[in-house]
Amino acid sequence: MLKIEDLSYLVSDGDKEIVKNVNLHFLDGKIYVITGPNGSGKSTLVKLIMGIIPPTAGKIIFDGKDITDLSIDERANLGMSYAFQQPVTFKGLKVKDILNIASHKENDFNALCDLLSKVGLCAKDYLQRPLDGKLSGGELKRIELAMVLARESKLNIFDEPEAGIDLWSFESLTNIFKNLNSTTIIVSHQTKILEIADSCILLKNGKVEKIGRYDEIKPFLSTTCGKLRGGNE
Ligand SMILES: Nc1ncnc2c1ncn2[C@@H]1O[C@H](COP(=O)(O)OP(=O)(O)O)[C@@H](O)[C@H]1O
Ligand SMILES: [Mg+2]
Repeated sequence: MLKIEDLSYLVSDGDKEIVKNVNLHFLDGKIYVITGPNGSGKSTLVKLIMGIIPPTAGKIIFDGKDITDLSIDERANLGMSYAFQQPVTFKGLKVKDILNIASHKENDFNALCDLLSKVGLCAKDYLQRPLDGKLSGGELKRIELAMVLARESKLNIFDEPEAGIDLWSFESLTNIFKNLNSTTIIVSHQTKILEIADSCILLKNGKVEKIGRYDEIKPFLSTTCGKLRGGNE
């Protein structure tokens, strides 16, 4: 469903290559976790896939169509979705408004309740809440996840979704990923997230070092990433 071919990202100031000739093939409905040391190019790679930054070389093919030159909005319209590392607030909008916007329809209370309960929030308490600084980072992050669920995209990309999931269990988060009816690409260091991947992609210095299930890449993680973070911190 998604193919990246010889994708590179070279920064203009100097000749630093952040992503180098990456070739990957993502299959329908599978969960992929991109991992690797800090600065290895993980965020850059997913930003290239979503069109937030343009590659300096290479191609991105989505459902057989070359999308390399398409904008973020055009990619979103094709069914690609990206969740930011830091949740965004929208002035003047309530939680129910952005869920309706995300799903492109007016949802009834039960549908909205279903979305929020999947991310561990009670609809009664949250639907009428304005999206502002009064919501905690963890609450905003969960609302953002509810927006992802509402969008029902074919491809969902998450960059370190565990950040800010302080008061919530990892099990709930991994259950969301497992139940997403989409191809899912997650940037993460967390063992519990790596364990649910159909395939883990280990990046090092902008290159794919190893691809495989968690138990297959695990021996490479200890040498490449130093100490791997535990599941519940
Ligand atoms: N536009 C840019 N100009 C210069 N350096 C950049 C730019 N974007 C990213 N980098 C550098 O590229 C490296 C990879 O960044 P990033 O993809 O954010 O890594 P990761 O998400 O794996 O921690 C980092 O060293 C970062 O500082
Ligand atoms: Mg990053």
